[in-house]
Amino acid sequence: MNQGPGRILVVDDDPLVRDALAASLVTAGHLVTTAQDARSALRELEREPPELVLCDLRLPGMNGLELLHALKTRHPELRVIVMTAYGSIESAVTAMKNGALDYVTKPIDDQLLRQRVGRALEEGALRRENDDLRRRLDQVDRRTGIVAGHPSMQRVLASVDAVASTRATVLIRGESGTGKTILARAIHALSERRDRPFVEVSCGSLPDPLLESELFGYEAGAFTGAVRSKPGKFELADSGTIFLDEIANATPALQVKLLRILQDRVFEHLGGTRSIECDVRLVLATNADLERAVREGRFREDLFYRINVVAIELPPLRERRDDIPALAELFLRRYARDYGKEVRGLAPAALRFFMDFDWPGNVRELENVVEHAVVMAKGEVIQLDDLPGRYGGDPKLAAAELGIRPLKEAMEAPERDYILQVLKMNGGNRQKTAEMLQVNRTTLFNKMRKYDLFDADLDQHGA
Ligand SMILES: Nc1ncnc2c1ncn2[C@@H]1O[C@H](COP(=O)(O)OP(=O)(O)O)[C@@H](O)[C@H]1O
Ligand SMILES: [Mg+2]
Repeated sequence: MNQGPGRILVVDDDPLVRDALAASLVTAGHLVTTAQDARSALRELEREPPELVLCDLRLPGMNGLELLHALKTRHPELRVIVMTAYGSIESAVTAMKNGALDYVTKPIDDQLLRQRVGRALEEGALRRENDDLRRRLDQVDRRTGIVAGHPSMQRVLASVDAVASTRATVLIRGESGTGKTILARAIHALSERRDRPFVEVSCGSLPDPLLESELFGYEAGAFTGAVRSKPGKFELADSGTIFLDEIANATPALQVKLLRILQDRVFEHLGGTRSIECDVRLVLATNADLERAVREGRFREDLFYRINVVAIELPPLRERRDDIPALAELFLRRYARDYGKEVRGLAPAALRFFMDFDWPGNVRELENVVEHAVVMAKGEVIQLDDLPGRYGGDPKLAAAELGIRPLKEAMEAPERDYILQVLKMNGGNRQKTAEMLQVNRTTLFNKMRKYDLFDADLDQHGA
């Protein structure tokens, strides 16, 4: 692991030492500023905090130990290496006890210094990385596993908290893949019903009579094949939560029955007359324009008002890009575990691509891409190359996925077909074919060889 350039502040009252150290560190690729005493060192620190301070212990005025104390009070995370004269190790030990990371003795060995500086910066970088990680993990709501760092998602979670413990019907709206299902589960998990069933039904999944029999159950003989009576999902979900996905697809008949449940909390089996009471919390989801469906008469207005009491809108991922690193991290860990792969992180280029991408398929699409990348990853870190081609990976792979052939190959196909067609027209006669195509016989011969046309069946349908 090689450490990039670091910003280093060198503090020494001896201008010769100062310049020599600065020169050495600049040569090693670092950015160096210098100070001749504690006071100017502190001023320098205010201007632009360095990552590392290299500080002589014997300074005029405020001495090195006092400076160390002042530095660590202002910037506890600052790394400090102290320099001591040969033979005064005790002061170095005192400095280490007071927060110095390391010490070097004068006269300073150039090679050793660079090595120590490199190591100190590396440790800093590692710690920063861990801080980043911790911050990302903080964006995950511990109770639900939902990433919600962006203010818009914090608001979503606040709404969830506010409604979870009530019996209010909740309508979750958002594009496909924005997390409607996971949110519905969260509402259930945070409610007092959490130990009761959570039953999920998509209103777009089954043709109407089947869907209704699924939801409400039926009596024996209600329809052909209904040999014995069967309870519906509303009974199975009793005192729990029922999640009706894609509610905009509910047929008019189903809409009427849902309205009845919402108003009176009762329903009947198909083919039955007995009213069944149910205590079920309804959560519904849609990615459709329900208002428009109401205007166009496809969705009952009264039902719309009933279900639209509490509406939670999930923003598309492209409008909460801040959450992308945490989401990617979450999925990376999940799939590394699932596939038993030692994948630990994301290369900066891959993360940058994730941040810039538009994610029309939202969180689900990001999850799929990360899963693919984990499977394909050749090392511990996911590289741009590990992503599916159309996500910034190798354009050649992207082309293969999209069925795009090289230009040359694509242009040759019609040429081959054309020659073949004219050859057939002429019953395989090359002389005539060459004359018609106005190329000489050698050219035709070469092309026939290139396109593998000697063995082609040329006798079929002539002109
Ligand atoms: N904010 C989030 N934090 C963690 N995982 C999420 C989040 N949003 C979505 N997911 C995950 O992304 C995938 C798609 O979400 P899902 O709830 O099925 O979307 P939708 O129902 O809106 O189509 C699921 O695997 C889900 O667990
Ligand atoms: Mg869903």
